[in-house]
Amino acid sequence: MKINETPIDGLFQLKSENKTRLVTRNRVPGTSVYGEQLISVKGAEYRVWDPYRSKFAAAFLSGMKKIPQIYDKQILYLGTSTGTTPSHFSDIIENGKIFGIEFSPKVMRKFFRLTEQRSNLVPILADARRPEEYSSFIFEVDMIYQDVAQPDQATIFGRNAQEFLKSGGEGIIAIKSQSIDVSLEPKEVFKNQIEVLESVFGLKVIESSSIDDFEKKHAVIIVKKP
Ligand SMILES: C[S@@+](CC[C@H](N)C(=O)[O-])C[C@H]1O[C@@H](n2cnc3c(N)ncnc32)[C@H](O)[C@@H]1O
Repeated sequence: MKINETPIDGLFQLKSENKTRLVTRNRVPGTSVYGEQLISVKGAEYRVWDPYRSKFAAAFLSGMKKIPQIYDKQILYLGTSTGTTPSHFSDIIENGKIFGIEFSPKVMRKFFRLTEQRSNLVPILADARRPEEYSSFIFEVDMIYQDVAQPDQATIFGRNAQEFLKSGGEGIIAIKSQSIDVSLEPKEVFKNQIEVLESVFGLKVIESSSIDDFEKKHAVIIVKKP
């Protein structure tokens, strides 16, 4: 087995005879978070990152080129669920922190248990539509990652970017077209969401791509705050 670096620091590709898998180095050796495989290579343990369960991994494997670095960032993460993608961010991040917002108390209980093992994850039970609920915990972040599957996805992101994203900071937004308008072609929905991000919130879209190979009718949009 061979471990190769990728353009994203802390994200690796593990090559065996007939497979290439995306992995991160396990911050809590011996522990699997969502049933993912653990693989040891040269004394280090890696967790396989499943692109069918994480839109970040799907975006990377879909060939997106402008995915920001995350290893040194303060990140606001909207819609953590039980922590599949946040756990891989936690593996990668060295000096930064991830402030994880989730509004379902049941889901948050499970995410909270994960944060007890991973000191760079900060759990916040709150509604991402109401940034004022958590503005006393967060001052300014380098990046916002959002995956909330709501009808007003671009607006939720825009409001959080206005409140917390530093100038020059970046955002990654997973868009689920079926949560916005089932009557429109996904392409149209993605175009409308980009329009909201740019014209209503003044964000610059630097890359967008469908991640259909992994999640049907989804796209990932990468933005920068001027
Ligand atoms: C698709 S799941 C997120 C999966 C997660 N990002 C991952 O990759 O591991 C969407 C999550 O967003 C949460 N959510 C939806 N709307 C929200 C809101 N307004 N505020 C906070 N969380 C929200 C849901 O409860 C759900 O857990």
